[in-house]
Amino acid sequence: NDQELQEIYDFAVQLGKDAGEMLMNACRRRMQGSGATTSVSYVEKASSVDLVTKTDNDVEQFIHTSIAQKYPSHKFIGEETYSAGASRDYLVDDSPTWIVDPLDGTVNFTHLFPMFCVSIAFAVGGIPIIGIIDAPFLRQTFSSCRGRGAWLNGTQRLPLIRDPVPPLPENAPSGCTFACEWGKDRRDTPDGNLIRKVDSFVNMAAERNGRGGKGGMVHGVRSLGSATMDLAYTAMGSFDIWWEGGCWEWDVAAGMAVLEEAGGLVTIANPPPDPTTADIPRAKLGGRLYLAIRPAGDSDSETGRQSQ
Ligand code: IPD
Repeated sequence: NDQELQEIYDFAVQLGKDAGEMLMNACRRRMQGSGATTSVSYVEKASSVDLVTKTDNDVEQFIHTSIAQKYPSHKFIGEETYSAGASRDYLVDDSPTWIVDPLDGTVNFTHLFPMFCVSIAFAVGGIPIIGIIDAPFLRQTFSSCRGRGAWLNGTQRLPLIRDPVPPLPENAPSGCTFACEWGKDRRDTPDGNLIRKVDSFVNMAAERNGRGGKGGMVHGVRSLGSATMDLAYTAMGSFDIWWEGGCWEWDVAAGMAVLEEAGGLVTIANPPPDPTTADIPRAKLGGRLYLAIRPAGDSDSETGRQSQ
């Protein structure tokens, strides 16, 4: 019921903030240290670009313990618990489930690049209905609860940029910002080669609108190093489109909740359908390839993008 949901949401927001503070404390220790203490040691998981630090594990344990104490009957899925050997059937089903990435953007964290965050989602029926993204270095907390809006720092309703121009298909990719991630798979497969994907996307805009012609180009391509932060900024309206192949549930669950509550769309359809039609196949947790589209915004907004 409503009150129960509110309680879970309040608990999740506080949990995200406390966990974010743990991440930030680890950063502070490094920034105030000297020599070896300023770098962070990590262990490679599936490959040399798949990292885990002690902080990932400590924060996951803190979140897991807090949830188990407060909601012992709820299921818990965490990136590090899974990586430590939990089986495939450990992944999302219909029961009330917490889906957690204690540190999304671990590579950024190890390089002290501020784009990292705690990502906490609460899902029922396989659908994330609460999303908390705490990015402590940026002092940004994104949160959402189904039916109650998506928020930045609890006060600013998302999207912040209410662009009246629908992002797809007819107006994009011209003039848009496109975000994508490198993931952890470096194999050069036809499906997985990001450089080719980005190239075709950028060229699609150029071809549709005239190469180098006025107003026809993609404004920028971004890769933040955190799928969750990409989704948060798509919810803000800063990114028009985000794409990644090879995601896990914990990479996208909280971001999906926030973006969808802001009015954006996450789909597994490829190529993307017309977002102005009603029957867009929504992504269900459990897929690997995700594409997100920012909220369409409203037509009488004054904060929309100007073409001149
Ligand atoms: C990773 C980041 C990265 C994305 C990977 C994720 P992690 O999560 O979100 O940007 O490309 O697919 O696994 O390992 O930093 O928690």
